[in-house]
Amino acid sequence: MRPLLYAANWKMHLPPAEARAFAERFLALTSPVSGRSLWFFPPAVSLEGTAVALRGRPDIRVGAQDVHWEPKGAFTGATSVPLAAGAGAAGALVGHSERRHVFGETDAETGRKVQALLGAGLTALLCVGEKLDQREAGQTEAVCLRQLRAGLEGVTGGAWERVVIAYEPVWAIGTGRNATPEDAAQVHRAIQAELARLGAPGRRPVLYGGSVNAGNAAALTAQPEVDGVLVGGASLDVEGWAGIVGRG
Ligand code: 13P
Repeated sequence: MRPLLYAANWKMHLPPAEARAFAERFLALTSPVSGRSLWFFPPAVSLEGTAVALRGRPDIRVGAQDVHWEPKGAFTGATSVPLAAGAGAAGALVGHSERRHVFGETDAETGRKVQALLGAGLTALLCVGEKLDQREAGQTEAVCLRQLRAGLEGVTGGAWERVVIAYEPVWAIGTGRNATPEDAAQVHRAIQAELARLGAPGRRPVLYGGSVNAGNAAALTAQPEVDGVLVGGASLDVEGWAGIVGRG
């Protein structure tokens, strides 16, 4: 069976006690499924509790929602890769749409973050995606591939094994409006082709994100180009998330 990856991005939800309770309930509701792996991205303060609660499940990894590229220093409010790793993170999201468009993160900054993660032996889950006006102007692939090239500049050798991509069209995030499976598959094909041009030695997982829920997850992952999903809102309800993960 084709491997699938299910990632939960909790964004700015679930404080430590709630995150731990979620993790414990999730463990009670699910067991590992062959060929499926899971990521949880809790808020930074809930990272360690979630990682500790889930550490008995080898199919589950926990990551940070963002990292700074410097390993330490006077960067009030930021989380470095060593800090995240010390709390149990095996990787991090980089360049999420909200980091780019709410907090003004640049393409170049995403590249530095990816380098910091890969250099420390962690996984970088790089998010790319176009805004609505860019889609309507026919720029979807140009925008996504530009973000991809900037984010992955300088990646070489074995570090490719720790690169995961998420295609998240900005207009689909939190809006209830998602790309059709065929639309997603088309962008995923363009991303795979660009990854090969950039020197990725084999296929890397490309996830789809943006208003994924129990009603559309299976149709998305049925596309051979869609290697899994990155889910915000629908990952906050433990029964619902367990259902999405279990069903595929
Ligand atoms: P929603 O699933 O809430 O649309 O969020 C998607 C997302 O941004 C995941 O990173």
